Amino acid sequence: MNDSKFLNALELKPNSTPPIWFMRQAGRYLPEYQEIRKNYSNFLDMCKEPKTCAKLALQPIERFDLDASILFSDILTIPDALDLGLAFHEGEGPKFSNPISKPEDINTLISFDENTLSYVFNAVEETKKLLPADLPLIGFCGSPWTLAAYSIEGGGSKDFKKTKNFMQDHPSALHDFLEILCDACYRYLRQQVLSGVNALQIFDSWADLLSAQELEIFSLQYTKKITQKLKSDPITKNIPIILFEKDPRQKITDLIFDDLSCISLHWKNDIEAISRSVKNNIAIQGNLNPMILSESDEIIYQEVQRICSIMFEYPGFIFNLGHGITPDINPQKVQTMIKAARE
Ligand code: CP3
Repeated sequence: MNDSKFLNALELKPNSTPPIWFMRQAGRYLPEYQEIRKNYSNFLDMCKEPKTCAKLALQPIERFDLDASILFSDILTIPDALDLGLAFHEGEGPKFSNPISKPEDINTLISFDENTLSYVFNAVEETKKLLPADLPLIGFCGSPWTLAAYSIEGGGSKDFKKTKNFMQDHPSALHDFLEILCDACYRYLRQQVLSGVNALQIFDSWADLLSAQELEIFSLQYTKKITQKLKSDPITKNIPIILFEKDPRQKITDLIFDDLSCISLHWKNDIEAISRSVKNNIAIQGNLNPMILSESDEIIYQEVQRICSIMFEYPGFIFNLGHGITPDINPQKVQTMIKAARE
C-alpha cells in the first residue's frame, strides 16, 4: 500500500473513505483565485508563470484537504504552441486568432516543439515543490479530437458547425491534424511525467459532438494511440491514465480499453449500471452533477450519499464531479460535499 488513497484507488486497492478531488478545483469559484487572477488581463499569461501556477494548484488543497492535486494549466496550450494564437478574452472563453480553416493550414502548420511549453513543465516542478510528498499531482491534456474541435472552430461554440463541416468536407486532412495532435499530446504528457506528475488524465470534452461510430474513428482511435505510446515507453509505462469522455453516444462499458486505469464518468452516466458491469476491472471516478452544488446542504448530502453508497464496496472509487465546477458555486457548498463523502 502506498500513502495515497488516490493512487491506491487507481490500483484498485480498497480505501476506508474514497479519495476526493474534483475537476476545475482551482478556479474562479475561489476568492483566493480571483485575488491572483485580477492581476492578469489574459488568463494564458498567468499560465505562463510557473510559480503562480503552483500557488493556484495548492489553493484547493489547502482549503479542502483534497487527496490529489491537478496541474494548473489548460488543455489549449498545445494548439497555442502550434501558433494558432490563443487568447482568453474577458467573459468570452478561449479564442484562436489563427484557427484551422482549410486543409492547407494543416500542411503548413509549424512542427510541435515541446520546448515551447517549458512553462508547463516548470509549473509541474514548482507545484511538486509545494505539495506534501505523499500528495499526488495529476498531469493532463485534451484528447486530439477535443483539441482539433477548438482549433477548427476558433474557440468554444454551441454547435461546432465549422468543425462538423470540416469533418464532412476534409476527413483526410482532419486525420492528418489528429495525427499531429496525437504525437504532440504524447510528447507533452511524457515531459509532464519527467517533470514529476504521478497520474495523467485525458479530457475528451467534445466527445458528445460525435456519433458512436465517429467517436471511434475521430477520437478514441487517437487517444488509444497516445496511451499505447505511453504504455510502451519505459518513462511513462507505470503512470496510471484516467479518461474523461463527456457524455459520449457510445456506451461507456464499450469504450473502455486496456491501457486505462480509470474512467471518469460524466454526470449523465449511470454509475450504478456501469460499476456493476465493469466488475472492479477499472477504477471509477466522478459522476456527481456539479449543479447539485447550488442546492441546499440536504440535497447535496443526499446526492453524495447516493453515489457513495452505490460505490461503497467498489475498491477503485474516486469521488469527483461529473464535469468541472462552475464559477458561481459557493466554496462552502464544496466543503459540505467533501464532508458528506468522507462520512
Ligand atoms: O483545477 C483545475 O482543474 C485547473 C486546471 C485546468 C484548467 N482548465 C484551468 C482553467 C484544467 C484541468 C483545465 C482543462 C480544460 N480547459 C478543459 C477540460 C475540462 C472540461 O471542462 O471539459 C477544457 C475544455 C478547457 C478549455 C477552457 N479553458 C475553456 C473552455 C475555458 C473558458 C471557460 C471556463 O470554463 O472558464 C478555459 C479557461 C480556464 N481554464 C480557466 C481555468 C481556471 C478560467 C480562466 C479565467 O480565470 O478566466
